[in-house]
Amino acid sequence: MKNLCAATARNIRRGADIIRNGGLVAFPTETVYGLGANAYDAAAIARIFKVKGRPTFNPLISHIADIDFLPEYAQTDERARTLARRFMPGPLTLVLNRRDDNPALDLACAGLRTITVRMPDHRVALDLIRRAGVPIVAPSANISTSVSPTTAQHVFDSLGESADMILDGGACPVGLESTIIDLTGKQVVLLRSGFVTQADLEAFLGEKVIPSSGNPSAPKSPGQMLRHYATRKPLRMNAVSPAADEFFIGFGTMPCALNLSASGDLAEAAAHLFAYLRQADAQTESPKIAVAPIPAEGLGAAINDRLSRAAHR
Ligand code: TXA
Ligand code: MG
Repeated sequence: MKNLCAATARNIRRGADIIRNGGLVAFPTETVYGLGANAYDAAAIARIFKVKGRPTFNPLISHIADIDFLPEYAQTDERARTLARRFMPGPLTLVLNRRDDNPALDLACAGLRTITVRMPDHRVALDLIRRAGVPIVAPSANISTSVSPTTAQHVFDSLGESADMILDGGACPVGLESTIIDLTGKQVVLLRSGFVTQADLEAFLGEKVIPSSGNPSAPKSPGQMLRHYATRKPLRMNAVSPAADEFFIGFGTMPCALNLSASGDLAEAAAHLFAYLRQADAQTESPKIAVAPIPAEGLGAAINDRLSRAAHR
């Protein structure tokens, strides 16, 4: 585990050097851990796809540390600028049209005309990006389609030594991947639900946000593929009580092996979700997993989205 190290100022500086020299550094964000590379380094990006087992048609999010740089990569209109001012840094990712005169980003964007940008709200991530001096592309730091990592140990369990460095900055406070919206059309389209909810966006923008109607087999956002965030064991949602062969993850006051939030707090449940799915997978007595009903409102929509993908066989 010699690549696993505390996110001290010195190690963040070393991490930035590794990124600049073409290496891969896993780092914490407020959502999940990312596996980062220099957005301008084709060889490093190719290695990300290989290490994750990710199809190369699936584009990566470019992480920035300052919204003033946004116009360097993307075409920004008034709507994009107001959203950036309100939600960046934070768990909201914007799909924008690319600036044609920045061809170095071809690989990160998988050849698409669009670029996907996010400014994480995490001290370690921001420090790493600033010190690297380049945008950092980073998918979640796990093998493709498996459960996303919310601790440095999860990253190591999934990727081992194939990341040159894993910066340990503790557990990710949000625990679900960022909300993704597409701003390239007339209407705002929600591609992935997350901590920033559809209702938050509609209230802020004063317009309707359209949930993506994408065909899940040929998705606009490949992360919409139905089987994603998959546990190894079969998973059943909306379980009122467990069967004899099920490991039961509860919500609210109920007897269960693990409780996402005994007080019924959705933010707490989101922060626990991926770690508990991993624990349920690792537990040896029960061959199956059951999860209690999660209310559909607010952040519950994002939690249920991840659960339904994990449950899909
Ligand atoms: O919270 C997050 O967003 C984390 C942290 C590390 O920042 N990152 C993350 O990346 O979840 P990833 O690669 O696991 O998920 C990014 C999703 C993928 O489903 C990808 O298909 C979609 O974003 N995406 C990226 N670029 C896109 C684009 N130009 N148009 C549509 N979807 C895009
Ligand atoms: Mg992912």
